[in-house]
Amino acid sequence: MALIIDGKKISSDIKEEVKTKVAALKSKGIRPCLAVIQVGKDPASTVYVGNKKKACAYTGIESRAYELPEETTQEQLLELIRRLNEDDTVHGILVQLPVPDHMDEKEIIRTISPAKDVDGFHPQSVGALSIGEPGFVSCTPAGIIQLLKRSGIEIDGKNCVVVGRSNIVGKPMAMLLLRENGTVTVCHSHTRNLREICSRADILVAAIGKPKFFDASYVKDQAVVIDVGIHRGADNKLCGDVDYEAVADKAGAITPVPGGVGPMTIAMLMSNCAESAVRMCGHE
Ligand code: GUN
Repeated sequence: MALIIDGKKISSDIKEEVKTKVAALKSKGIRPCLAVIQVGKDPASTVYVGNKKKACAYTGIESRAYELPEETTQEQLLELIRRLNEDDTVHGILVQLPVPDHMDEKEIIRTISPAKDVDGFHPQSVGALSIGEPGFVSCTPAGIIQLLKRSGIEIDGKNCVVVGRSNIVGKPMAMLLLRENGTVTVCHSHTRNLREICSRADILVAAIGKPKFFDASYVKDQAVVIDVGIHRGADNKLCGDVDYEAVADKAGAITPVPGGVGPMTIAMLMSNCAESAVRMCGHE
């Protein structure tokens, strides 16, 4: 039976560490603050934003919510971001994605100051990650590195296969594994022999976006399997990109869905916010 990597426990540990860090900052008169912007009323986004606000409250970070109407113009949103960039009492700025169709997401991301880019989406943050300079890292892949490290799983020298090449997960995941001295292969929709490549992985990161896609034939004996997917099945139960029941006996370690990668994203967002406050006050 595989080690079940407990994302709930590890994310909770990280949030406790953030809470301690935030309390120390507050004792020095610094009040970490995250600005959370949502444009429109997409129900899924409202749930995500609500969870982020709750995590802020738990860790002692102030959350400043901006709920803008669907018809907000691009320029109005950019104006708000510029104002928050200049506001010394704000340490992180997050625009919940997706934004409405009439908006230009790339321009929005580029307008957020890299010093406050706690999502790690700004081209400067992405570039810094790729050349090993300090900067914020996308929360889900950063959380996966924490899951591995805190479960005592070595990355150095391992064959790591990432399935998925999104800007938010796949690409930064590959960069982070490379930074940890993994030998990294990135697979995507045009990859040939996907099963064969996956079945050689010591660490397999599944971010393909298809429910229960990876069965035991994709998994090497005793491999570490990280499941980034989250889907609601026909039976109304949550499942990941990995067929958990089929893979659990073969893997050496595996993340469950729910309770694996999912809770790590917000924990790392909190960690990035606290870190931003530390960096900003260090520069004053
Ligand atoms: N939408 C889905 N995931 C995310 C995320 O991590 N950050 C932001 N800003 N929007 C999202």
